Amino acid sequence: MGLTKEGQAALDKIRRLAEDNGIDIRDGKVRRTSSRFCLGVEHGDYNGTELFGVATDRFIWMAYRPNGTETIRLFSGNFPGDGVVEFKLGDVPEPKSAVIAETWGRFPYGVEYILRREGYKLSQGIDGVIYGNIPGGGMSRSASLSLNLILSLLDANAIEIKDKMKIVDLAQAVENDYIGSPCGQLDQIMILFGREGMGTYYNPAKRSVEYVELGAGATDFRIVVLDTGTVRPGLEKSTYKIRRGQCEELVSILQKAGYKVSCLADVKDEALYEKIMAEFGGRYPDLCDRLKYIFAAQRRFYEMLEAWKAGDIETVGQIFRQDGIGLRDDYKISGPELETMCDIVRTIPGVLGERMLGGGDKGASGALVRAESIEAVKEAVGVAYPLSRPEFADKYAVHICKVVDGVKVYEGLL
Ligand code: GLA
Repeated sequence: MGLTKEGQAALDKIRRLAEDNGIDIRDGKVRRTSSRFCLGVEHGDYNGTELFGVATDRFIWMAYRPNGTETIRLFSGNFPGDGVVEFKLGDVPEPKSAVIAETWGRFPYGVEYILRREGYKLSQGIDGVIYGNIPGGGMSRSASLSLNLILSLLDANAIEIKDKMKIVDLAQAVENDYIGSPCGQLDQIMILFGREGMGTYYNPAKRSVEYVELGAGATDFRIVVLDTGTVRPGLEKSTYKIRRGQCEELVSILQKAGYKVSCLADVKDEALYEKIMAEFGGRYPDLCDRLKYIFAAQRRFYEMLEAWKAGDIETVGQIFRQDGIGLRDDYKISGPELETMCDIVRTIPGVLGERMLGGGDKGASGALVRAESIEAVKEAVGVAYPLSRPEFADKYAVHICKVVDGVKVYEGLL
């Protein structure tokens, strides 16, 4: 299958960048990795909940070919100032070191480092050019890039990993262990497994994935991403890290008090929840607010899944909205610009639900919108957002997204 218009434009750009920077991609392959949109439970992955989401059509494209040497040479059209990132296999900076903090090169360094650490012997370098249109903060740009690099390097070295969950682990390790970002596995799962037109359901107890079709007769709707134009620093520098720590702290308090829980998602039973809140709500109000969100969002998750199966997108939207309120008021992981976007779209007829997306603080909010209300959303955001947030007047963007395959490889294009 051929490329879309955006894909074609990205490829044209990649060809030019390859030529200008002396990167040889002739006869190479193109791997396209997607972004993701989570329908639940946001911030549930590191708390042990089940997950549901889709792969969306904002992408990272990488054109590459094995270069017959032991050197990796890569150029990113998104970070042209970094020039060609070039290094020998086995020779990358130390994990989390100062030299990697400011360069996108930490991703390929990290991929090489983790693959080697995990015993995958690379002997073949690649030349490659990368270009992406995934906005930062909320759509999983970093997981998309890590996965793209892992899959491309494995392919160039003719190494096949059959267990896709292993690839998820590797991509998370690149971020956790090399870059120092404390992310979970939501992003990698939704991208690596994502299928056109399908929801991806993940069960952590079995580490299994199932595809769930949206029930017939659903209202025609769009997934809308409202990029605030703000820049979200890495998760290690965000509220995200603090929230993770708080959730772990509450689990350890509960364990010491004799509760048999290994993560907050284990608090599923209403009586157990009420008991914990009565016992610890006064002493640890903040930590208990974190539990309040996870408990309620986990309950809503099953309702949301049933509604999705039934094609009842209105209910999916309402739950998305309630999750957003919980993320804002109980989990306290949203940010002022993210909430401005939500406030603007919330009352527009045809907006079924809206909330902050992903890691939090900054980045993008999202909404589920009836197809016929898309123009109204664009117009309202176009008028109100620059008025409320003039400093981001020329940086914000509205993306109307489709549900697509998470990973695609094209041959014969270069
Ligand atoms: C970021 C992290 C994910 C997940 C989400 C919140 O995208 O990378 O692991 O925790 O935030 O749901």
